[in-house]
Amino acid sequence: MNYKEKLDINRIPEHVAIIMDGNGRWATEKGQMRLVGHATGVESVREALTAATDLQIKYLTLYAFSTENWNRPKAEVDGLMDLLVTTIASELESLNTNDVRLLTIGNSDELPESCKNELLNAVKRTENNKGTVLILALNYSSKLEIKQAVKRIAEKYKQGEIELDEINEELIQNHLYTAGIPDPELMIRTSGEIRISNFLLWQLAYSELHFTPVLWPDFKKEDFYRAIYEYQSRQRRFGMIAEQLNELNKND
Ligand code: IPE
Ligand code: IPE
Ligand code: MG
Repeated sequence: MNYKEKLDINRIPEHVAIIMDGNGRWATEKGQMRLVGHATGVESVREALTAATDLQIKYLTLYAFSTENWNRPKAEVDGLMDLLVTTIASELESLNTNDVRLLTIGNSDELPESCKNELLNAVKRTENNKGTVLILALNYSSKLEIKQAVKRIAEKYKQGEIELDEINEELIQNHLYTAGIPDPELMIRTSGEIRISNFLLWQLAYSELHFTPVLWPDFKKEDFYRAIYEYQSRQRRFGMIAEQLNELNKND
């Protein structure tokens, strides 16, 4: 089935987030080192980004490295960091050609120096691009993100900068890494694992979730279009009942 052709262009999500999982298993199945899976996964990043820009999706967030991933064997962590540096450097031109802006979420201060510098450079050099915003979640932990937000808000309260009544959902949202970015309407996870793994806990509160058994290095544009197609077949009720939504849609 050609899913792209079947999409309703009036109902393309504004923000799609992906947990890119399964690189290690993909490589192991082929009798290769896990790092071969990570390197091949870069091609799937290009596929997802091309599909997103094609559909004019405004934000694409990719979970690239969690705070928990530091617990992997040192050789794998080092390999992943090297891959990040080389990939960002080699893709920079293409990001600019395609008008893609790069942002990161997570604690980038704790990344190796070379990685941090490459990232900062790419963020700076793409800052005026107006197309899709590619958000890399790097050294990211949602619990840590929420903890940091709570601490910053508590500090402002202590300093008398805000009143207790001003602490609302919007204020919390504005203290997350994703301040100013709308919540993802759709979250995709590859590799058959059905969990969130400390990713965007606040932001995914009402997202549609799409789990696919496809391993990340096998993920192609068509898989992305399929996820959007299935997303469009769902009714997002936000607590209401179907009849109310039908009535609302009639008035659109
Ligand atoms: C995802 O693939 C990439 C990262 C977490 C960095 P994995 O490396 O988790 O692959 P599996 O889950 O072991 O197959
Ligand atoms: C989640 O994948 C993190 C990234 C994709 C970067 P993991 O493979 O680390 O997650 P778990 O261990 O299956 O929860
Ligand atoms: Mg994994």
